[in-house]
Amino acid sequence: MKHPVRWTVGAALFLLLAMAFAWWRTGQAEWQQWQRRYNAAHPDDPIPLGIRSITPSRTGQPELCTTCHVGIEEISPSHPLETFGCVSCHGGNGLALDRERAHAGLVGGRNPSGFATMAQACNCHTHTGQAGRDGVERVGRSLMATYAGGIALVRHAFGAQPDQEGRYGVMAAQDPNPPPGFVAALKPLPVSAPDELMPALAAQGVTASGHPIDTRFRRSCLEGGCHLSEPATPQPYRYRSTGCAACHYLYADDGLYRGQDPTIPRDEPGHGRLHRLTTAIPFSQCNHCHNRGNYSLRTMAFTPRPDLPPAGPSLSDFLPRQQRRLAEYYQPIGQFTLCEWELDCIDCHTSDEVMGNGHIADAVTDSQVVRCRTCHGTLWELPQTAPITAEDEPAMRQAQLNGHGKLRVGDRVVVTPRGEKMWAVREVAPGRFVETLKVSGEEVEVPLVYGSACQQKPDEQESRYCHACHAYPRDDALKPFLSPP
Ligand code: HEC
Ligand code: HEC
Ligand code: HEC
Ligand code: HEC
Ligand code: HEC
Ligand code: HEC
Ligand code: HEC
Repeated sequence: MKHPVRWTVGAALFLLLAMAFAWWRTGQAEWQQWQRRYNAAHPDDPIPLGIRSITPSRTGQPELCTTCHVGIEEISPSHPLETFGCVSCHGGNGLALDRERAHAGLVGGRNPSGFATMAQACNCHTHTGQAGRDGVERVGRSLMATYAGGIALVRHAFGAQPDQEGRYGVMAAQDPNPPPGFVAALKPLPVSAPDELMPALAAQGVTASGHPIDTRFRRSCLEGGCHLSEPATPQPYRYRSTGCAACHYLYADDGLYRGQDPTIPRDEPGHGRLHRLTTAIPFSQCNHCHNRGNYSLRTMAFTPRPDLPPAGPSLSDFLPRQQRRLAEYYQPIGQFTLCEWELDCIDCHTSDEVMGNGHIADAVTDSQVVRCRTCHGTLWELPQTAPITAEDEPAMRQAQLNGHGKLRVGDRVVVTPRGEKMWAVREVAPGRFVETLKVSGEEVEVPLVYGSACQQKPDEQESRYCHACHAYPRDDALKPFLSPP
């Protein structure tokens, strides 16, 4: 051996250089930049720079996602970080520290709960066979996802089908056990596309249509951002997600993120308000689709309503809360009672109505069953009630998930005409009812028609009859705010 010393020094020098390079590289690692950015935003409460690892009990595998996604909100108390981590829902590679490898195989990209991936990502909510615990099947068959009734109505009106039976949906759906009045299966709405496009469409189960209305309808309405499977129109008030997140993951009217994850841009509209799932869904979330304008069957065009105040982060931005709500809630020509705008939609509309009851409806009257008298009774009858009999029945679970629920076994609650228990409307004493508002937790007494001086008629129970005497004067209440003198 000629120069053993020189070799050794060379090798040591090389090793030192390699180590310095590795050290420098770590200092430049993307995750350090996100942690520095987090610390810059939290000067009073900085975190020590370093790799962050969690080992959720559900999988027992370590996950490094929060090294970059430091500060991200826990998604919900029912999906605690220490049990679920991130990969349970999102997939991805939990051991990777560079973005590309970590995100390889993310389920559904941003949203694991979209229709294409919900059965995989939300698999605790599928095929459970337990009442109220099969959200994936229920939502896939619900009217807000399939729009089967609207499609049947339009196709019938334009002569594309002989009756108003549901045959097609925005997407396909099947129900092995349809009860009378419900539909066994829906095919995706057919299209009248050029022949050369048909093979690709056929692969998605879409058939050719002999009627031009199908394609016109699909373009003007079904791709217009109103259905649970379709992405939102990227506009103030309309930002929202799809699938389960369309309702359970709240978006602000201006579509801006207001949480603490440095990787989620705070100045780019089109993100949820926080990384959070909730069952306490405020009306503003439903209104990302509902009450946004008018659809003309004749012209097949949607006209957005012109009267909305500028979208803000919260209801109270510049209009007082109740006025803002009044302005956003109903269109100027709409008639409504005090409780229809004071309460949130889900204070009246139940889980079965909104997520579906598990069967394929092809008309609003199949799935929307709550009536004014469900809570108020009539001059001749008190509201129908039923007792809570078990700790784990759907009403009890809904009350617990909501966080404001005070339900106990033995309590009596109001039931819908289908027998679904409305957990938030309790009979607190014989003939006395109190409703827990699901978003604010406030408790309000439900005034009854029974025993009042109400002038309703027994066979005039639809809301339009009640509005004739009980309509709330929207314009009077708003005038001082919308057009200052
Ligand atoms: C090296 C840093 C880094 C790591 C590690 C990392 N992420 Fe991300 N992640 C980002 C950044 C930056 C963004 C925003 C830009 C983008 O979409 O690439 C992001 C975006 C996302 C999104 C939204 C994607 C979209 O299309 O909008 C999801 C979901 C996500 N990450 C989940 C995860 C999960 C789950 C893990 C762990 C398996 C993980 N990330 C690990 C940096 C990281
Ligand atoms: C219970 C399921 C669930 C768990 C657990 C979960 N997420 Fe999410 N996450 C979601 C859903 C649903 C969305 C979709 C939001 C949307 O569509 O706007 C989402 C969205 C995101 C986004 C994109 C937000 C945006 O606006 O760009 C990121 C980033 C993200 N999650 C990271 C994580 C990380 C990191 C973890 C672990 C700490 C995690 N998630 C745990 C369900 C989950
Ligand atoms: C169109 C809106 C909407 C969509 C979409 C939606 N939900 Fe719901 N969800 C609700 C409402 C409303 C409730 C009832 C909340 C209450 O009254 O306390 C609810 C309740 C729940 C509950 C509580 C138990 C129950 O069944 O009432 C779970 C769990 C749930 N949803 C899961 C899901 C899953 C999983 C998906 C997607 C497959 C989904 N939701 C899609 C609106 C929606
Ligand atoms: C993604 C858009 C979207 C969101 C979000 C949404 N809806 Fe709907 N909703 C629709 C469409 C589309 C219909 C069908 C309209 C029709 O047939 O007139 C519908 C129908 C309904 C119906 C009548 C039929 C039925 O299935 O009971 C009720 C009640 C309803 N929605 C309540 C709600 C409530 C409450 C929320 C919030 C928790 C909500 N919606 C959120 C789009 C949406
Ligand atoms: C005070 C209770 C109450 C509130 C709050 C409420 N609704 Fe309703 N809703 C009803 C009742 C009752 C009906 C049945 C109407 C009838 O009897 O004529 C109905 C009917 C509906 C229908 C189907 C019939 C139609 O006219 O299109 C939809 C869709 C609907 N509501 C959506 C909503 C949305 C979205 C919200 C929130 C923005 C909401 N509702 C708030 C009680 C309420
Ligand atoms: C889920 C139960 C529920 C349903 C369904 C419901 N209400 Fe109410 N209603 C309430 C509650 C709670 C109040 C009390 C509100 C308050 O104290 O601010 C109320 C108050 C009222 C009042 C008295 C307040 C006033 O206007 O002076 C009238 C009238 C009324 N509702 C009519 C209706 C009509 C009409 C419908 C059908 C469209 C309806 N309600 C559906 C719960 C309900
Ligand atoms: C022809 C007019 C008229 C019609 C139609 C009508 N109401 Fe009434 N209602 C009244 C009057 C008047 C009162 C008594 C008001 C009072 O005592 O201050 C009343 C009282 C009530 C109350 C008790 C309010 C309280 O504060 O104690 C409720 C609840 C109510 N009505 C609900 C309804 C519902 C639901 C409908 C539709 C099914 C309806 N009303 C139809 C005129 C009408």
